[in-house]
Amino acid sequence: MSALLLELDKVQAFYGAAHVLHALDLSVAPGERVALIGRNGVGKTTVVNTLLGIASMRGGRVVVGGRTLRRPRPYEAAQHGVAVVPQGRRIVANLTVQENLQLGAAARRKGPWNVAEIYRLFPILQERAHTRGTALSGGQQQMLAVGRALMANPALILLDEPTEGLAPVIVDQLAVIFRRVAAQGTALLLIEQNMSLVVRVAERYCAMAKGSVVAQGPVEDSKQGLATLENHVAV
Ligand SMILES: Nc1ncnc2c1ncn2[C@@H]1O[C@H](COP(=O)(O)OP(=O)(O)O)[C@@H](O)[C@H]1O
Ligand SMILES: [Mg+2]
Repeated sequence: MSALLLELDKVQAFYGAAHVLHALDLSVAPGERVALIGRNGVGKTTVVNTLLGIASMRGGRVVVGGRTLRRPRPYEAAQHGVAVVPQGRRIVANLTVQENLQLGAAARRKGPWNVAEIYRLFPILQERAHTRGTALSGGQQQMLAVGRALMANPALILLDEPTEGLAPVIVDQLAVIFRRVAAQGTALLLIEQNMSLVVRVAERYCAMAKGSVVAQGPVEDSKQGLATLENHVAV
């Protein structure tokens, strides 16, 4: 049995005939904070979609919480300890804030997170508990998406561009939140275009180009560390 929380081993993934991931290798160990970076269209979201069975895997393997998934299904990752905060947040429109949170508990495992703890992390969500989720601001919807993922008590939380379209002051708040979640023991895989957030949150990076991981290394919170990362996302 693997000690890794998530392992993608030479994964080949497709949408129909379109071959998007090419022998992609990626792993996350317990408690790690990993950033997955790369320009638009390189296949970052497809890594998530492969895990959820939305993109089809036709080679390689995905191991989640020690379990090899030959044909991943949408609920399996959460059952085996990997929760996803999807790109674009995907808040359910006709449900309240609290109902959106409860959706995340479907694959509930034992652990510290429940509605009360999520409200302690994000007091604004408690104030707005009975409001429709989609009536929240963009930043609040992102907090709700993070809270919903935590409700599964994951060992690893996968965040797909969580700060896209958010104001810098909200990005700063989320950086603090992500560090707090990590400090509580949850590993992070942060897909992100904002490298100043990456240096604040991640300890290791994997850079993708054209459907593969082409570089990786430690993240250094310095000017030089930032420049190294920016190289992988510069257009
Ligand atoms: N549902 C889909 N069907 C077909 N092609 C897709 C689909 N989603 C993404 N793609 C293509 O797969 C490639 C990788 O996309 P994506 O994983 O979304 O990139 P990223 O998240 O790095 O911006 C792109 O060329 C994109 O056009
Ligand atoms: Mg994407």
